This record gives sequence, C-alpha cells and structure tokens, in this order.
Amino acid sequence: MGEDGIIIVGSGLAALTVAYYLRAQENVMIFTKKGRTDSNSWRAQGGVAAALAADDDWRAHFRDTLAAGCHHNDGRMVELLVREGPKRLQEWMDAGMAFDADEHGQLRFGLEGGHSRRRILHAGGDQTGKALVSFLLRQVEGRISVVEGEQVIELLMEDGRCVGVKAKRTDGAVSAWRAGAVVIATGGCAGLYTFTSNAPTAVGDGIAMAYRAGAAVADMEFIQFHPTMLAAGGKAVGLVSEAVRGEGAVLEAEDGRRLMDGVHPLGDLAPRDVVARAIAAEMERGGRVYLNISAVRDFRRRFPTIAALCEAHGAGLEAGRLPVVPGAHFLMGGIMVNEWGQTTVPGLYAVGEAACTGVHGANRLASNSLLEAIVFGARVAHAISRQEGWPAAAHRTVRPFGRPRRLLAPPLPGRARIRERLSALAGIVRDGEQLREAVRWFEQFSLPDWLDGDLEWLSAEEIETGYMLLAGWLVASSALRRTESRGGHYRSDFPYDHPDWQGRRLVRTKEEWAH
Ligand code: SIN
Repeated sequence: MGEDGIIIVGSGLAALTVAYYLRAQENVMIFTKKGRTDSNSWRAQGGVAAALAADDDWRAHFRDTLAAGCHHNDGRMVELLVREGPKRLQEWMDAGMAFDADEHGQLRFGLEGGHSRRRILHAGGDQTGKALVSFLLRQVEGRISVVEGEQVIELLMEDGRCVGVKAKRTDGAVSAWRAGAVVIATGGCAGLYTFTSNAPTAVGDGIAMAYRAGAAVADMEFIQFHPTMLAAGGKAVGLVSEAVRGEGAVLEAEDGRRLMDGVHPLGDLAPRDVVARAIAAEMERGGRVYLNISAVRDFRRRFPTIAALCEAHGAGLEAGRLPVVPGAHFLMGGIMVNEWGQTTVPGLYAVGEAACTGVHGANRLASNSLLEAIVFGARVAHAISRQEGWPAAAHRTVRPFGRPRRLLAPPLPGRARIRERLSALAGIVRDGEQLREAVRWFEQFSLPDWLDGDLEWLSAEEIETGYMLLAGWLVASSALRRTESRGGHYRSDFPYDHPDWQGRRLVRTKEEWAH
C-alpha cells in the first residue's frame, strides 16, 4: 500500500495487534488519549483462552463460549474465534511471546469460570496483559507512530465514508488527519460505573463517537460485572482474578457459609453473571462476601500483582480471606462489525471490546477478551491490507472557533455523578422503573446537540464527558428495551430469558433521533 495512511484509535491489545500485522506498511499511526500503556489490556491479569492442550479441542471451547453467552452468541463468529485463536497464539509464541510453562517447558493451562477444562494461558502469573502489550510494543517500535496524549474527538466524514479523524491536544489545538482507514480500538465502557475493574479511560467514547458518525451499535445492555474486586475503604480497589478461584479459592459469607453451594453446578466457577448476582444478593441482605484463599498454593508467587494489591490496602492476605465486591468489567456489545471488523460506515473499522462481533453473546466467557482482540485484530489488519487506493496520511491544524449552540446548556454533570447514576439505575440487577429514570436523567443533557453540535470549541475533557453521556444513555435505553433477563442483563421485572429475544440484537443507530 506504499504511502497509505491508517489511523488506529486506542493502544490496548486490539489496537496493537492491528498495528503488528500492518507494521510493514507506511503511515500507520496510533492515537492514544493518555500514554501507550494506559489501557485495560495492560491491566489484564487473567489470560488468553485457547484450545491448545492435548486434551482440548476447539469444539469444547466453542460449546463453553455459547453456554456462558446464554446462546445469544453469533455461532459463526465464535467458530472463527476458537479455531483461529490457537493459530495466532502459536505464531506469536514462535515470534518470542512467552507464556507460563512448567519446568519441562510445557505450557501451563489455568482454569477459570465457565470453562469445562484447563485452557487459560498466563504470562508472569497474573501479568498477562502487560506481557502481551510489551511484546507487541517491541515488535512495532520504530515502524509505526504512536501519538500519546492526543484525544481523537470526532470522525471525519465525507459522503457517508469515514476519511479520517479530528484530534485535540491537551493545549487545545485541534488537528484533522485524513486516512484511508480508521480503526476504533478504544475499549468498552465499564469505566462508566463507580465500582469497576477498568482503566479510567474506558468510558465508551469510541463507541459513542462511531454512533455519532452513523455507525450501528448493538447489545449495549449486556454489561459483565466481575464478581471479585478487592473491597477496601468502601471502594473497589482492584481486580482479584478469577484464576484465583480456578486454583481453589472459594466465596463465602461472613459466617463462613459457602456462597455458591446449590446455586450452580459449576459452583465458584459458574459463569460470571451468576456469581456476581449471588454476591450482590448477599450484600443486598446486608452481608459481606469474602474470597477464602487458604486452599491456593503459593499465592504470592502465582499472583504477585494481587498479593501486592492486598498488601497496599492491608486487605485480608494474612487472614487468607479477601473482602470482595462485584465491579463493572466488560461490555459485550459495541460497534457492530462483520468478520473483518468492518462497521456499517465505509472506511471505519472497530476491534476489541469497542466492537460487537457477537462472539460473547450475553455474557463473555472468562479470558475470551484478549483472544478476541488477537483474532479479530489480525482480521482487521488483513482486511485493511487488501484495500487499495488510500490517500497518504496528511494533517492540518484547525483553530477552535465559535461557541456551539446550546451544547453546554444545561451544564455537564461531573463524572462521579454519571457513574453513580448508571450504577444505581442500570447495575447488576435493573428494573423498568430504574431504567426509565436513567434514560430521563441522560436525556436532560441535550443529547441531540451532542450528536450534531460542533465539538471543537470544547475542552477534551468536556467532549469526553459528552461521549460518556451518550454511551451511558445507550446502555440504559437498550436495557429498558430488552424485556427479558439474559447473561449480563438481568431485569427483576422480567427475571427469565424469553425465546422471542434469543439471538435478537438491539441495534441502535443515530437515525433513531430523526423521529
Ligand atoms: C480475570 O482475571 O478474572 C479477568 C479475566 C477476564 O476478564 O477474562
């Protein structure tokens, strides 16, 4: 493709995978609003699920993915995920990526919730994300440009096609960049909740930006809550990986009663939605929940990040009982894409948690997210490299001008308030009344102006807050429309799944504002 320009927005595993497979091209640029390691991927403790063990095969992984996803998954996409995953990982291992192995050099396979067998690869114990991101950064270094601290604020559109992005620096300068392909790899929106495992940057802005540009988004009501965040000082202070339960830790109530007894045949390793609801119900009754780690051998060596987290907060390590609460962790929905990561807007791609490939259904299987980033990141790169006729990436600086009409009337709410509202009204268990209130609350902030107004004049922070409002509204209003319970979407007023909703996606487009 010679001088052709490709812009990737985001710097997590999905973004870097696209860059890795396009590293031979000229003019591949990554834009990241903070630093290159400020991503959920960097924080990922849990590993990569792949049927690589001798006693495993892709069909078993396929079945587990569908069961966890409550059969809301797109089976064709799941098949791509579980069949191509082992090939990509083997490729990366051949290129020097090291996963944890035993003393004979054989890969160690961990167990996590919803998996019928041991198939999770880890690196550095609980530092898998850091190891993968570091590996890819080394591979692409000097071959692509990484622009840090510059926030992409909107997509440039011409005749219905995405032809680049506008970005804003911290000093307020706005630049417009033209490119033949733009890839949104900005992660999900679990950072819209007060208790979250996510980086503070993961607030759904990339998804809202794509929706604003006309791309279809889907499945926004499906939010996964991770059952075990470490609780300290009334806050959720960090993730305690599910791999800890895979090594024998169990959930218990204050009085030592086993929390998951009789709840699900997989007990403590039931799918996350089931475990998170059991914990939430115990807390609703006024109880506290603990993760008893006394059966986990060699905890500090196996889980160094979690051990350090517990020590930093003086939380339970010596007693062998960690206080835990659920926290928002993953968005199953996102920008709708096909098997090549193409969105409904020509020239625009999406990948990783920002995208809705349909592989996760209503509830993602543990350790399938890094796998999705790798498999579909490679596919996006392949699709882009097959395209022809890109313009060279060029940029010009645009001065901020004019005060946009009504855009800041009423004034924007604080981020803590947005998080509080979404947590209270569209949390682990929601109902119609709460969701209607959530929708009303978001709609008071003149969302149509956010969709069409001129953003350049606003600060990067204000723009991000506006996108948080749009993303939060998409979650709440989608949750209101789905009148059943399935996976990460549980309604106390519709507590069962309904055959009419099986496999039915709630697709949202900007057109809905036209009437
Ligand atoms: C975890 O380590 O429990 C999180 C991994 C994942 O979300 O798949």
